[in-house]
Amino acid sequence: MLNRIYDWIDDRMDITPIWRDVADHEVPEHVNPAYHFSAFVYCFGGLTFFIVVIQIISGMFLTMYYVPDIVNAWESVYYLQNEVAAGVIVRGMHHWGASLVVVMIFLHTLRVFFTGAYKAPRELNWVVGVLLFLVILGLAFTGYLLPWDMKALFATRVGLDIAASVPFIGDWIQTLLAGDEEIIGAQTLARFFAIHVFFLPAALFVLMAVHFIMIRRQGIAGPL
Ligand code: HEM
Repeated sequence: MLNRIYDWIDDRMDITPIWRDVADHEVPEHVNPAYHFSAFVYCFGGLTFFIVVIQIISGMFLTMYYVPDIVNAWESVYYLQNEVAAGVIVRGMHHWGASLVVVMIFLHTLRVFFTGAYKAPRELNWVVGVLLFLVILGLAFTGYLLPWDMKALFATRVGLDIAASVPFIGDWIQTLLAGDEEIIGAQTLARFFAIHVFFLPAALFVLMAVHFIMIRRQGIAGPL
């Protein structure tokens, strides 16, 4: 039955070559831990992607309960955490995943650096990687404010002060992010929410697509 549905779609859309291209692509021996155990360091990029997928899915479920305004934000998170079935698990995944993805992307960057994989012709993909790193840090920073508790407020105050200390354009960056130079308030929460769920994820998707297309085109860097 499933076969026939697949064949019907394949006759019309020719999808077999698309997934065959991915499934038949061979992994070189030097990145396969089954041959050389130390090759496990090549897993960090894929693990980063895996956690990004978990963050996206758990985040989508969080937005079903989260209310991005200063009156209801904290309570909506409290309700999700304590009253909603499996809410504590979904929130826990997003909470711990946020830290883990930063650790993973850092380990992946170390792997690329210490195997010299950033050298020609992969310099541009390193630059795309640096942008990905900034986007992930931006997601971690903007997400931290959303529970709207004291920890979130004081941490964001520190982050905004750091942003404001940038020479010449610091005040401008702070106002752009927070909506107001002096207080973290309604505008700040609305902006952080928009940045967290729309702006940065959009940038993340585009950058990851470019990253993966370049990896497929250039192939993985050779052994040391
Ligand atoms: C969301 C973030 C990222 C994801 C999902 C990701 C994913 C991947 C994957 C799956 C690979 C294939 C090889 C491997 O797994 O090690 C790879 C390769 C590569 N990545 Fe990333 N990456 C990310 C961020 C970064 C960062 C922050 C950098 C550096 C600043 C970077 C630079 C590179 C380079 C240069 C390659 C090619 C390496 C080679 O050919 O050996 N990536 N990335």
